[in-house]
Amino acid sequence: MEVTIERILPGGLGLAHAGGKTIMVALAAPGDRLRVRIEKVKGNVSFASIEEVIEPSPNRIEPPCPYFGRCGGCDFQQLSYQAQLDAKVEMIRDCLHRIAGLEKLPECEIVAAPNQWKYRSRTQWQYDSARKRLGYFESGSRRVCDVSECAVLAPELQASLELVRNLMLDNRLPMEARDFRAVAGDKGVAISPSVSGPKIREMNRSIHGETYTLRPESFFQTNADLLPKLIDMALRDAQGETAIELYCGVGLFTIPLARRFKQVSAVESDRDATAFARKNLTRAGLSNTKIDCEDVGDWLQKNLESAGKAKQRRRFGSPADDSLNEGQIQSAVDAGALQIDFVLLDPPRTGAESRVINQLLRLEPGRICYVSCDPATLARDLKKLFTGGYSLESIVAFDMFPQTHHVEAVVHLSQEIRSNDA
Ligand SMILES: C[S@@+](CC[C@H](N)C(=O)[O-])C[C@H]1O[C@@H](n2cnc3c(N)ncnc32)[C@H](O)[C@@H]1O
Repeated sequence: MEVTIERILPGGLGLAHAGGKTIMVALAAPGDRLRVRIEKVKGNVSFASIEEVIEPSPNRIEPPCPYFGRCGGCDFQQLSYQAQLDAKVEMIRDCLHRIAGLEKLPECEIVAAPNQWKYRSRTQWQYDSARKRLGYFESGSRRVCDVSECAVLAPELQASLELVRNLMLDNRLPMEARDFRAVAGDKGVAISPSVSGPKIREMNRSIHGETYTLRPESFFQTNADLLPKLIDMALRDAQGETAIELYCGVGLFTIPLARRFKQVSAVESDRDATAFARKNLTRAGLSNTKIDCEDVGDWLQKNLESAGKAKQRRRFGSPADDSLNEGQIQSAVDAGALQIDFVLLDPPRTGAESRVINQLLRLEPGRICYVSCDPATLARDLKKLFTGGYSLESIVAFDMFPQTHHVEAVVHLSQEIRSNDA
């Protein structure tokens, strides 16, 4: 079947129409004329792979990596770098329109990566001990694509990949290991599980004048080169009395927040990450921040309730163990028992749970910054925030993951002034 690719969709597939059907093509470029093979049909949508490029898009380039098409890691190498950036902006705007329901689409600047290759400073290599393969999963499968050189790895991680490969070829890797995680710090690389020499379990990484200790297992942004700009954009001009940070990891945004606000409360559910975040704040000499290790939804629920109870006690002298109804909690928030100037949230790819957004709306922070690595779940959550009285101040994309369809977005929202507030 012959198709022409119209544009790249969120998720990275090329969109085409033929014979009344919607066809999504992997590894395509907008404008490509292709002969494709249908691999799978789901309802009215067919998923296809490229059999032949009949006429290449002007944006199509020769993918430099020998594993391209087999390795599931990079699905944008066929696009020139400018076309990658354009596609990412279009994906975000598409989600804001279709999912968040914005009629008037905002401008969305994208900050390019300083390095389009060799940028990844944290990674996970899959290991198939039976077949002696080390690398990444093949696309759409759990088969390990054996990779000896990865074009997006930072040089120190490429050297570590070679080290682990040599150990594999010498039968010196633990047979039970299924994967290896590695992170590059200021002075070397930590690999987990440890493979040779002295066990290095954690690393220090300096970003924007602050030091973060972390482990290979900890979540940390993979593109360290862009982090100073990402942090500056996420915090922008925020400052004041009270800030809350949801999903704080090892404290990437927590330290800069603690330098700008009198009091910060942060939440993270991973025990190790929470311990590192506390350690990182202590090293930075900051004592105005409390970090709780808890599920964000549970934490917000508990805090809204206890703020409500405190307010009740002050108002009516009711006992501390009174359980409050929704209306009482809301009245406490309305009466200013919880006055939050700024909330920063950076949830995982699945976005924030529905109850988290509802609780956020009850908190009524003056401003919200939402950092997201998935435009679709971001748009889903923004729709609820718009309905709840927030409006979009700005959205800026960051190309944290060149050569892949993934993109990071930083959104600033502020409370709309209602006519009866004026
Ligand atoms: C995208 S990362 C952001 C971390 C941090 N802001 C950073 O940039 O390094 C999301 C974090 O949320 C945490 N997380 C995921 N689900 C959570 C939940 N339900 N409650 C609290 N934290 C959660 C993960 O452990 C992870 O550290």
